[in-house]
Parts: sequence; C-alpha cells; structure tokens
Amino acid sequence: MRMVDIIAKKRDGGELTTEEIQFLVRGYTDGSIPDYQMSAWAMAVVFRGMTPRETGDLTLAMAGSGEQLDLSSLKGIKVDKHSTGGVGDKTTLVVAPLVAAAGIPVAKMSGRGLGYSGGTIDKLESFTGFEVERTREQFLQQVRDIGVSVIGQSGNLTPADKKLYALRDVTATVEAVPLIASSIMSKKIAAGADAILLDVKVGKGAFMKSLEEAETLARAMVEIGKQVGRRTVAVISDMNQPLGFAVGNALEVKEAIETLAGKGPRDLTELALAVGSRMLLLGGLVASEQEGRSRLQEIMADGSAVEKLAQMVAAQGGDKKDVYDAERLPKATIIHEVKAQEDGYLTAIDAEAVGHASVVLGAGRLTKDMPIDLAVGLVLHKKRGDRVQKGDVLLTIHANKDELLQSALQELKGAYSISTEAPIEQPLIYKIIE
Ligand code: URA
Repeated sequence: MRMVDIIAKKRDGGELTTEEIQFLVRGYTDGSIPDYQMSAWAMAVVFRGMTPRETGDLTLAMAGSGEQLDLSSLKGIKVDKHSTGGVGDKTTLVVAPLVAAAGIPVAKMSGRGLGYSGGTIDKLESFTGFEVERTREQFLQQVRDIGVSVIGQSGNLTPADKKLYALRDVTATVEAVPLIASSIMSKKIAAGADAILLDVKVGKGAFMKSLEEAETLARAMVEIGKQVGRRTVAVISDMNQPLGFAVGNALEVKEAIETLAGKGPRDLTELALAVGSRMLLLGGLVASEQEGRSRLQEIMADGSAVEKLAQMVAAQGGDKKDVYDAERLPKATIIHEVKAQEDGYLTAIDAEAVGHASVVLGAGRLTKDMPIDLAVGLVLHKKRGDRVQKGDVLLTIHANKDELLQSALQELKGAYSISTEAPIEQPLIYKIIE
C-alpha cells in the first residue's frame, strides 16, 4: 500500500477501505508517513469529506493508536461527558459529582484549558492540595470506593490524534466535520466510555458559530457512536452569552458548588439537569428524562451532591473544608465593578469578549505552558433579557494586577448591548440529537 495512492483516491472522491485508513493512521503515528503527505490527505478530506463508515474507521484507528483505558473492572455502564467548550462552562464540575451521587460511575479524564479560562483540571486545582495526576490503580480504586474521580488526561492516549490535530492546526484543515468528530470521539473511546453524552456549544463564544454547523458536528459524532457501538447523545446548547455568572477558575468552582446545592444560576442548573438526566438514561438508571431530573433535583436538595464533591476532593488530596466554605478558595486582590451607562434591557453579552477579558486577566492560557491565575476572572450580575437601570452593576472584575484590569476593560468595550426593547427569548438548549 502506498500513501500517495490513498491521497489520490481521496482527492478524486473515492471511499477508503478500512485497511487503507488503518495503514495511514499506523504510518502517521510511527513516523513512516511524513507530515506533508498527511496534510495533503487532510486537505483532500476537507474538500471531499468522508462517509460514516470511513469516519468510524478513522475514529477506531486513532482510539487504538496508543493506550486505551480499561474500565471493565468498574461495575455499571460508564457514561462519559464531553463539551466542545465555552465561556464559563463549568458543567463537568457539577455533573460529575451529581450523576455519581445518583449511582453512575464517573471515571473521567479531563483537559487543561487552552483559550477562554482554564479547563476542568485547572479549575479543580483551586482546591488546596487537589491532585490531578493519579496512577491508573488509584484512579480506578477511587471510582470503586466513592463512585467518582476526575484526573488529567494521560499523555499516551490517542497519539495519532495528538499529532494529526497539531498538523491540522497549522495547515488550515481543522474545519472538516469528519476530522473534528473523529478527533473528539477517538479520545472518548480511548478513555474507556461505554456511552457518551456530548454537549455541543453553539454561538459567539463557541467553536461552532451557527446552529447548522453545530448540528452537523453533533450528528456526525452520534453517527460515529452508532458505528463503533457506543451509545451517544448530543445536546446542542447556547454559547452566545457565558454560561452561569462566573468566568474564571476559582470563581467557577464556587458557582459549581452553589449549583450542586440547588442554589446555582438558572441556566447552569438547567443545563446540568438536562445533561445529567440523559447520562442517567444512558446508564440505564432511569426510564425517562423526567425521572432523571427528579432524581438529580432530590440529590441537589438533600446535600448529597455537594457531599459527593467533598468526598472526591478529599480522596484526591484536597481539603474538603474548601467545598463547604468557598471563602477559602483563591481570591483576587482587586475587585472592580462595571456599571450600566443607560436604562434598558440587556440584549446581548458577547461571550467571546468576556472570554478574551478573562484570558487577559490571567484566568486562561494562550500557549500550552502558560501559568494561570486561579483567583481572577469576572462575575456577571445581569444576563440577556434582564432589565437594567443606569448605575446598576453589570459585572464585577476580579484582578490581581491593575494593568491587566485595564486591558480587560478594553476587551469588554462593546461587549454589552442595551436597548429599550426586550430581546426575543433565546433557548438554552436548541436540540437533542440521538
Ligand atoms: N477538538 C478536538 O478535540 N479536535 C478537533 O479536531 C477539534 C476540536
């Protein structure tokens, strides 16, 4: 088999065989296929696409290119959750302990953030002493003992995807739905999931800007799930404005704890219930979404969801007192209020601008190795559709350096739109694809 023939076949719109796809993934991982051939192939995929069968084969080949986690020693259906990412997205911090408290085993590997604010792993480090690097045995034993563990992603998972994603990034070939879908799904499959719940974000602060694009990606991933025998459900949710009120690591942790106690923002609570109830359905714990929701609401109300998070924090070396007293979490030294300049209705909060402001403050990274400041970020006080009066506080900025505060204020110029007319209500959840 020759890579040049595989490139030509794809260039001419042909369908690659399973063997051809395995050959190119194997060859690219071991270095026998060079970057220039792989990038020519990726560009051919951008123009010609891939059939569902080819996409499923690519996913499995990439999932099998490195270490694969074996979760079979854990009882029950292991349901993983993935978000395509957005501003203020702390849903995993809520959903992991919540569904674990309901009886779904959660053995989750998460990433550090690149872009707006930190990733789940960065956020969890807001708890004093919390360890994100655990041995495989510690990780599995913790799930057996308390039902949940969230750790950093193993470096040996899906090396083919790691190499290909980095190549796509510099060859203008990220934007091909079969490549994005197989990249995401290969990581979930290698991480051992039996079933997968995808939260596909759409809007100004998301990777997918239009509902049509988000739906195409969601359908491609659900189809891969079918091809490879892992039940997959996608929730398409709004990311035009930040999720919840808090953006920034420790600030988001505090909000996640409030949400676990049933006292969180309306949108975050609703999303956590929508995602969590479908995870219970995928895990076979409930017979309907409504039953799942009721179960999760009880767990929030009786304190067992917060208790589950505290157990996880303690099991991973953290101090569970931080969970019960959020005042102990990292705090910024400068608190600056931004006030409304006019009366009216808040018609838009540009999630992308808020995300940039949080990165400028130090809450997120622009390069892989940048350190982040866990204490800084923004807390919104009003959301889209709210009535505001001149002088009302729109948001509070938490900063540790005055010059960064000034740069964040620059980023936020024009991020808020206020009008005399109330905006048309926008759904939080646009569609469920299954
Ligand atoms: N996220 C991924 O993991 N892979 C892609 O290709 C795009 C987004």
